[in-house]
Amino acid sequence: MFTVACLACQFAVDTTRDLRACPSCGGPLGFGYDKALVSFAHEDPSMWRFRSLLPVGSGTEAVTLGEGGTPLTRARLDLGCQLYWKNETVNPSGSHKDRAMSVALTRARALGISTVFVASAGSTGLAAASYAAAAGLRCVVLVGEEASVARLLPLRVLGSDVYRVHGSVDDALDLLENAGWAAGIHDVSTRRASNPYQAEGPKTIAYEIFASLGRVPDWVVIPVGGGGTLAAAARGFAELVELGMADRIPRLAAVQPSVCATLVVARERGIHSDAEMRAAAPAERPVTIQIKLAHTYAPDGAEALEALDRTRGVALAATDAEAIDGVRRLGASEGIFAEPSSGVVVPAVEQLVRDGLAGPDDLVVGLVCGNGFRETESLAGESRTLDVFVPSVDPSAFLRSLVRP
Ligand SMILES: Cc1ncc(COP(=O)(O)O)c(C=O)c1O
Ligand SMILES: [Zn+2]
Repeated sequence: MFTVACLACQFAVDTTRDLRACPSCGGPLGFGYDKALVSFAHEDPSMWRFRSLLPVGSGTEAVTLGEGGTPLTRARLDLGCQLYWKNETVNPSGSHKDRAMSVALTRARALGISTVFVASAGSTGLAAASYAAAAGLRCVVLVGEEASVARLLPLRVLGSDVYRVHGSVDDALDLLENAGWAAGIHDVSTRRASNPYQAEGPKTIAYEIFASLGRVPDWVVIPVGGGGTLAAAARGFAELVELGMADRIPRLAAVQPSVCATLVVARERGIHSDAEMRAAAPAERPVTIQIKLAHTYAPDGAEALEALDRTRGVALAATDAEAIDGVRRLGASEGIFAEPSSGVVVPAVEQLVRDGLAGPDDLVVGLVCGNGFRETESLAGESRTLDVFVPSVDPSAFLRSLVRP
């Protein structure tokens, strides 16, 4: 059982209506759950074991590919704290966005929608295409001019229709918003204003971290693009406190590319609202290999800022060189192949420790969001190490010489 209400004016919305904003004031929609009915079904290994805290009716069949239930592994890297990785790269389409799309497509199918639209050439596009296929719905993916063909091919294989828009993915988001809703266009893009239902999916990351550790960590480090994932994690932990399961919420650390660290800038300038963040956005699209985090403004930025304030959190930035270095270290030390947008958790944890915010006794969880297999082109600079041949004279002796003493 869930309820829908406006987060601005508290107007109660009929849960059967296909709305993405408050019909009274246009404000954002949020969800409530009957706490007495909350139970975590342990026999389900996917995130749907938490369905009593997701916005779906009790008779609704979930659109699922087995998302969630991802590993929480102890880090081998010694970064000066008690460190764990929440490995979201093993989700069905390679990122945590599967959690959001599983909820969004479940909702869309329950409403009898035939076609979903999404603006993204990244994780959300892949996830939307995958879950639309699993739901038997048509999926139209809008991508920016700059999206590489390598990113579009998987979308086509997953059966979606792909269209470029003139401009960036942020322009595509606006296009969908303007075309939207009244015209019957069902947008599943991952920002609350586009689709509030998807925003509930990533809360389950918080529930899983708590369930795996048996306690609340001191810090959770989260790569931020739009800000919705970080905001959802904060909500998830807050719900555990409301339910009497957890005693507190962890501090959250956001990490963004240094060329578009919109939350860092907002905090410096004392900006709080989405409108202010939009007004502060640069005209030029940021150039960074942290593609999944590259926004001129964070579409869910106000919520993310509020979550940072509420959790006594920090906003951090990482350069592309640090991101690649993080990818290398996650790969070689942990056996996790992450993309640059996720490699940034490594320098972010280091910065927490360097700044004295986390120490040897502090439990820190780094969210590794996206799988590097989806984005090998960003590692082109590493290719010079790949053309070393085994000598044809005495190859056995050569191989023996490679054994680590
Ligand atoms: C791999 C990856 N990491 C992090 C993020 C950031 O998530 P959010 O946009 O919810 O802040 C994204 C967003 O698409 C992503 O694809
Ligand atoms: Zn309202």
